[in-house]
Parts: sequence; C-alpha cells; structure tokens
Amino acid sequence: DGPQRAAARGSGVRVGTAVDMAALAADAPYQQAVAREFDSVTPENVMKWEAVEPQPGVYDWSAADQLVDFARKNGQLVRGHTLVWHSQNPSWLTEDAYSPAQLRTLLRKHILDEVGHFKGRVWAWDVANEVFNEDGTLRDTIWLRALGPGYIADAFRWAHQADPKALLFLNDYNNEGVNAKSDAYYALAKRLRAQGVPVHGYGMQGHLAVQYGFPGDVLQNVRRFDALGVKTAFTEVDVRMLLPADSAKVQAQAEGFGLLLRACLLARSCVSYTVWGFTDKYSWVPGVFSGEGSATLYDENLQPKPAYDTVRETF
Ligand code: XIL
Repeated sequence: DGPQRAAARGSGVRVGTAVDMAALAADAPYQQAVAREFDSVTPENVMKWEAVEPQPGVYDWSAADQLVDFARKNGQLVRGHTLVWHSQNPSWLTEDAYSPAQLRTLLRKHILDEVGHFKGRVWAWDVANEVFNEDGTLRDTIWLRALGPGYIADAFRWAHQADPKALLFLNDYNNEGVNAKSDAYYALAKRLRAQGVPVHGYGMQGHLAVQYGFPGDVLQNVRRFDALGVKTAFTEVDVRMLLPADSAKVQAQAEGFGLLLRACLLARSCVSYTVWGFTDKYSWVPGVFSGEGSATLYDENLQPKPAYDTVRETF
C-alpha cells in the first residue's frame, strides 16, 4: 500500500477517490495510484442513469462492472453513485415522453435493476443526490414534479429491497456546515427514520473553493447526525482555486482538505472520506468552473501537492 492508504488503515474511515474509467484504462500511473493510495472507489460517471441505460430497456453495465472488478482485485470497497438525480439522466427520459405514473414505474425499475445488478458488490449507495435547494426547499426536478416529495422515501425503499445490506445515503454539496440546506437534511433524515425508511447515511460532497473560505462548523454538523444514529461520509472532496495557483492558495487548499478530514475522524458516524478525482490531470473542475482549477491532491504530472501530505498526516 501507498503511504496514504496505509495511514488510513485502522482509522475506521475509508479513503476513497472518484475514478475516471477512461483514465483507468489508458493511464498506467493513474491506475497504479488508484490501487495504491485508496481503499474505496466511486465511479465518477459510469453508474449514472445516462451511462447504464442509454436506450429505454437497454442496459450497459460494462464500464461499471470493470470498476467493481478492479476494486475487488485491489481490496477496495465501492460507493455507488447515484440513483435518483436531476442531472445526467438519459436523453430519452423526459416529462413529454412519459406520464407521472410511467415515470414512477421507470424510476422504480431503474433502482431495482441497478442496485440488484450490483447486489453484494456495492458497499454504499448515494441514493438521492442534490434534492434540496440552498434555502432548504426541495429542488424542482422531474421527480418532484411527477411523483411529489414522497419520491425520496420510495427511492430508499426500492434500493433497500434490491440490496438489504447496502448502506443508503443522501448526498449533496454546500451541506458540510450548519446552514439552511443541512438543516433540511437533518430534518429529512430524522423524519424518514422515524417512519422506518431505510436511510443510513448523510453524504457531504465537500466541493470547497479557496476564494470563498471554508465552513467553520463542519464538526458541529456531523455531530448532530452522530446523535441521530446516521452514518456520515465526505463523498466528493476537492478544493478548487482561482488560477493561476500559487503557494499561498495551495497551502490554503491543504487546510480545506484537512478541515473536512478532521471532522470525519472526530465524528463517531463518519465512515469514508472520498476525493472527487485525485489528480489535476483529470479533474472535472476546470471544465465546469471557468478560471478555476488545481483542485485535487496531485498535480497534472501525478506529483503529490501539500494537500496530499496533509491528508496522510491527518489520518
Ligand atoms: C461530475 C463529473 O465529475 C463530471 O465528469 C461530469 O461531467 C459531471 O458530473 N456532484 C456530483 C457528481 O454528485 O456526480 C458530479 O460529477 C460533480 C458534482
């Protein structure tokens, strides 16, 4: 094992990365680093609905199966990502093409089939991704419009039916500290569990940015989920910055990675800390946030940055 994976061993917290399947196939040093430095993996894209069901009723599990096999070979757990979301759905899946009743049938079949396909091979699922707005109201999505707010509970019930042993997570961004969005998650998790809905975990993506500063009350937020008996995870950590990078920004970035990891290690409930890609060579950030980048633990040449040392030393 590499130094980071070795440091995490025995901590009770898995250290994970999102995996880019094209890079895994084409880039041997990338593949070696995934195997060496992490004991959990998340498919960056290949388990999303648009990837697994490109045409109605036509499944393609090939890329996702490859990652699951890679993980087993390397003694890693898999976080499945994601089952119900407003984004990266297949282009055929529209409100014009289907009635609300048909959409409910499609969502149910999608979850039962996907979780069933990976039964016993996925440790934890991000069942519901990004369901709240920043103000704590439910996000206006195809699922809310067609099925009403009960779609979230239904998604968890269907996932649990298909794999009773998998840990089932809510997941979002900007929900790491105590704020209106995380308050809404706390209330939702509490209510669903009181109703017997199988919600096991609360995922915080952890997409931070040096120029906005970091939330100060992450540990306080995580601890209230501890008290609920809900597991927690940091699921997509990266810390972007305005380009060009300089040593002050790169040092601040390391503190951002460390802040979230410390909260995870101090909480009872936190089971994993996953970065959303580990090298700037393949990070999603420059493509989505214009003028920003350098968001990961390793540079474009797969050389570790100060954040890598912080993560290893914090474990
Ligand atoms: C991103 C991927 O990293 C990109 O490759 C893709 O083009 C878009 O999606 N929140 C999530 C992830 O839950 O699925 C997103 O991943 C990043 C934001």
